[in-house]
Amino acid sequence: MRILGIESSCDETAAAVVEDGTKILSSSVASQLDVHQKYGGVVPELASREHVRAIVLIVREALETANTRLEDLDAIAVTHGPGLVGSLLVGLTYAKALCFAKGIPLIGVHHLEGHIRAALIGIDLQYPALALVASGGHTHLFECLSEGEYRLEGRTRDDAAGEAYDKVSKLLGLGYPGGPVIDALAAKGNPRAVKFTSPKLKGNLSDFSFSGLKTAVLRWTEARRLRGDFDPATDPETIDMLASFQYTVIEELLNRAARAAQNIGAKALVISGGVASNRGLREAVKARQWPMPVYFPEPRWSTDNGVMIAVAGYSRWKLGHFSKLDLKAQANLPLAR
Ligand code: KG4
Ligand code: ZN
Repeated sequence: MRILGIESSCDETAAAVVEDGTKILSSSVASQLDVHQKYGGVVPELASREHVRAIVLIVREALETANTRLEDLDAIAVTHGPGLVGSLLVGLTYAKALCFAKGIPLIGVHHLEGHIRAALIGIDLQYPALALVASGGHTHLFECLSEGEYRLEGRTRDDAAGEAYDKVSKLLGLGYPGGPVIDALAAKGNPRAVKFTSPKLKGNLSDFSFSGLKTAVLRWTEARRLRGDFDPATDPETIDMLASFQYTVIEELLNRAARAAQNIGAKALVISGGVASNRGLREAVKARQWPMPVYFPEPRWSTDNGVMIAVAGYSRWKLGHFSKLDLKAQANLPLAR
């Protein structure tokens, strides 16, 4: 049972071939980092253009590495939302064309289900489970009720966690994406040096907010600049501040996830999305006591890739969830009912 997974929702054109939902035969990713780097974030028009350039080559590479012909595929899984609509359309249209030409079934995959399933390769998840998905565009808590069935438990009210990393990095001129750079610098600093406050949110306690923290970093940086020139990548005070920023983000994510997991009686916790590759986050998870198993994707399957779409596609295939060839790309596609 071989599935080709195609992902093009943001700034990575990716394809992978996975057998039986567990055996990864290939994974090809074309990153557009250098295209967007100078803008400090993803420029949608440029992203679509780069996907058009890369899609045929990336799919061909994934098939060749997997020693697989299109005729050998049992299905093609593709992200159809959420994401940048122009970017989604490139992967989706190509997947549809291949399916139509070869008479292969199409499976539309929700990008966040892809992130969740990437943490569960070869794992028999116990339900109900709680999934924390933290990426550049999303910070959501989902209750996983059964395979393919989700309920939204909480979400960010403003910035996503990855977005907070990217904005803080841009502010300090540390480049895009901010996560990996800040993660590396934070490891050298004192996480208790700057006291950032946790947001006081009314209503749903499983919601997040990161815009106040971003503003606090902005104020801190302005005050630091007034005292003279500094290089953020080497200035010890800035490194301490970044360690404190990262500590605050991690505490927010883990405290709210722990509370929500307890509320729903979760038998497992899944932590995924680009931010799940954060080293500090993984260490903080290990340092805590959890009454349930905690699953992370391998770091290379944390950020966008084709494997996560292929494995989520396999899960949908088992459930008999196929898509028609008129499947739409949807910028805002809810996962939960
Ligand atoms: O899942 P992903 O590749 O794309 C989206 O679906 O958004 O996540 C990208 C996000 C970016 O905001 C990036 O800064 C963040 O994940 N990220 C990290 C780390 N690596 C990537 N955030 C914190 N620590 C990291 N090590
Ligand atoms: Zn993603």
